[in-house]
This record gives sequence, C-alpha cells and structure tokens, in this order.
Amino acid sequence: MLKEVVATRYVTPLREGGSLPGIVEADDLGTYVMKFTGAGQGRKTLVAEVICGQLARRLGLRVPELVTIQLDPVIGLSEPDQEVQELLKASGGLNLGMDFLPGSLGFDPLAYEVDPAEAGRVVWFDAVINNVDRSWRNPNMLVWHGDLWLIDHGATMIWHHNWPGAQASAAKPYDASDHALAPFGPDIAAAAAELAPLVTRELLDEVAADVPDEWLVDEPGFTSADEVRAAYVEALLPRAATIHERITLGPRTEGRPQQPPGWLAERLAPRPRPAGENTEKSTDKDGTT
Ligand SMILES: Nc1ncnc2c1ncn2[C@@H]1O[C@H](COP(=O)(O)OP(=O)(O)OP(=O)(O)O)[C@@H](O)[C@H]1O
Ligand SMILES: [Mg+2]
Repeated sequence: MLKEVVATRYVTPLREGGSLPGIVEADDLGTYVMKFTGAGQGRKTLVAEVICGQLARRLGLRVPELVTIQLDPVIGLSEPDQEVQELLKASGGLNLGMDFLPGSLGFDPLAYEVDPAEAGRVVWFDAVINNVDRSWRNPNMLVWHGDLWLIDHGATMIWHHNWPGAQASAAKPYDASDHALAPFGPDIAAAAAELAPLVTRELLDEVAADVPDEWLVDEPGFTSADEVRAAYVEALLPRAATIHERITLGPRTEGRPQQPPGWLAERLAPRPRPAGENTEKSTDKDGTT
C-alpha cells in the first residue's frame, strides 16, 4: 500500500502539465505534486502512474516517492482560479501525490549526458509499459542533484483502454525513435538482461496491489478490483520478458533541435573570466602565470 497523507494546503497549479497537476502540502509536512481524480484524463491515468511508477522504483529506476492524498475540496475555497476550483471540487477523496523535487530542472537531451547503460534501462522500461510520453518534445524526466528522475507515467499501457484486445496490444513492438534518450546509444540488451528477470508475477502482483480499490472498481467487464489488477499483470508479464526483441530505434526524427534552449546554454557555458584577466597570459605554456 502507498502511504496515505491528507492535503492541508493547495499551493499552486503546475500549468506546464496538461492535466493541471498542483503542488500541495500535506499533514506529514511533505510537499507533493498532486494528480487529481477529477481531471479530464480520468482515473486510469492515476492507475498507470501507480503501476508504472512503483514498477520503476522496484527495478531501481529513480521515480519520486508516490503517496495517496486525501483531499477535502474545502482547502481550495480561497483559490481564485475557476479552473482550479472546479478541479478540486471534482476531486474530493483519494488522489495521487508524487514527492515534489524542489529545484529540479526539466531534462534537456542537448544539455545533459546520459550513459548508454542508464539510457538502455529507461528505454527498455518505457517499452515494457508502452510509454508514448517520453519524447524529445516532452521528456517527462527531471534532473535533480545531478541525477535523472522519471515522472509522468499517465500515458502508458494503452491496452487498459480496451481490455478485450489487451493481450494482442501488449504483444506489439515499441518504436523508440522519438524517445528523449534515443540519441544516447541505449544499451537495450544489457538492460533487458539485468531487469527482465526481475519482473516476476510476484513483483507485478505487489505493484498492482498498491493501486487503491476505488480507482479499479466499476471497470466494465470485471467483477472486482483484484480481477482488474490481475489483467494488468497478465499484460505486463509476457511483455517484459520479450519486448527487447521488438524495440525500434529509427533515425532521428525531423524537427529535433540541435541546440539547447538559450537560457540553458547560457547556464551551461563556461563562466566568463573575471574582468582584467589576460587570456594569453593565463594559458602560458610554462604554466608560470
Ligand atoms: N515530482 C516533481 N517534482 C518537481 N516538479 C515536478 C514533479 N512532477 C512534475 N513536475 C513538474 O510538473 C510538470 C507537469 O507534471 P506531469 O508531466 O507529471 O503532468 P501532466 O499533466 O501529466 O503533464 P503532460 O502535459 O506531460 O501530460 C512537469 O513537467 C514538471 O515540470
Ligand atoms: Mg508531463
């Protein structure tokens, strides 16, 4: 089970997220990025966040801690933004929280190096969960304390939108040509050799057990939350074993930028020398400057 906390303050919306996640404070004195059950994307997005986020964490990939957050919409009463008010009103009860990483920067593939082993693990994992939302346009990765962190697993496991075709859909290949880590020479074979044997039925059962019942009940075609959990396990288990044979890393896609954005390039550029320092002198061959 995920830790459950109670929201005590709505701090601010994160407008860069399509689902309008918000930063909230909670009764454990933590700060979380909250994803709302009342958001247009629906509660399946939250189920995907839990299953994929917890699976990644159990495999040793960096994903901020996930919690469930009890929300009493009354905490948003003084919120001036109508859209936020409505979202909070529609989301009373249990929502999803992800530990907020203060000071993290959005990953930019032109500004940060990722080694082939790590790139391989991330691409392989995204292939398992069929993540279509880690492209160079929208990397959904953060850099925090110099490390890469994975966020936003809402747009994954497309098969959960059509359970009767789930097995066939989960057998399909994964096209990683657009993946934000495709340019780093991901070592997919090594990642699969290391991680695929860890994806056992037991592990997947444990991960699926972390999804709250109320996000699973009423799923058409199922009689209980546990039946839905089992369906996730049946789709992921065979996919994890063989997907590495069906990952395509095609040519770089059109429109992929060649330069980091100006503000980041500036931040990464070598610092200017202090005024008055003589460049020639400081590079004297005998090093006696
Ligand atoms: N744990 C976190 N710590 C710090 N910032 C975060 C965290 N999670 C998300 N963010 C910030 O909030 C933004 C939106 O989050 P996220 O991508 O999860 O939302 P979304 O609504 O699913 O977005 P999308 O538009 O990609 O579907 C991220 O791009 C990032 O800038
Ligand atoms: Mg996102």
